[in-house]
Amino acid sequence: MNDAVLAAAKMLAAAGIDSARLDARLLFEHAQGDSAAFAAGIARRLNREPVAAITGVKEFWSLDFAVGPGVLIPRPDTETLIEQALVLYPGRNAPLRLADLGTGSGAILVAALHEFPHATGIGFEASPQALAYAARNAARHAGGRAEIRLADWDEAEGPFDLVFSNPPYIPAAEIAALQPEVRDHEPRAALDGGADGLDAYRSLAWLLPRILAPGGHALLEIGAGQAAVMAGLFPGLELVRIAPDLSRIPRCVVLKAR
Ligand SMILES: C[S@@+](CC[C@H](N)C(=O)[O-])C[C@H]1O[C@@H](n2cnc3c(N)ncnc32)[C@H](O)[C@@H]1O
Repeated sequence: MNDAVLAAAKMLAAAGIDSARLDARLLFEHAQGDSAAFAAGIARRLNREPVAAITGVKEFWSLDFAVGPGVLIPRPDTETLIEQALVLYPGRNAPLRLADLGTGSGAILVAALHEFPHATGIGFEASPQALAYAARNAARHAGGRAEIRLADWDEAEGPFDLVFSNPPYIPAAEIAALQPEVRDHEPRAALDGGADGLDAYRSLAWLLPRILAPGGHALLEIGAGQAAVMAGLFPGLELVRIAPDLSRIPRCVVLKAR
């Protein structure tokens, strides 16, 4: 670690950033020898901006995604949805029709299209800022098989074989207590799930039976502690299972159209 990186790491650590050394090294590499760019990156990190928002790239499902201000940085936990899609369709060659409701950076849709080479899909996103990233990521990784649509997911029309969604699910009153990287730098529309965190699931409970093909599945991400209420939320669908993430936290609700 050179002196500049060491000095930056000390500043980040003094500001209470746990991953100070790693972050300093990543921002140094990103600056590619430009000391002004390195200083600017460290200043942004001191302001608790996530490293990925500064470097503009985040890996998800071993693919690089363009990210930045205005779009949720995809999380490793969300890869559970892709794993569950592969459990449902291990053959991979079916010409599936996919939808990703609230596609953000497009991470879920693009990763799923990567795994299912004959599938096509639509990502619905209400935020124009997020949509710009999804469009870039889809163009880079999904060929012509992804359509990214600026629309409320209520406007989706099926039929879809597989519907993914990682909706906003943080109870509104809990947002103020989140770490500053999330609270101050992730878009509020990507976090805020209403008073009890479940508003989006209620909306999806109405929508999914209308857009799923007969026998089709929905794969929904949930937050820690939300599994218990899921059984009663989707009366129009069969609850197949709730799959855990790598930390064994129930993470992916698997639902089937009756
Ligand atoms: C938690 S983020 C998930 C982003 C991405 N799918 C991921 O997993 O990284 C939720 C996304 O849903 C979008 N969103 C929220 N409500 C929506 C709605 N009613 N229609 C379309 N998009 C919506 C937000 O703008 C945000 O980009």
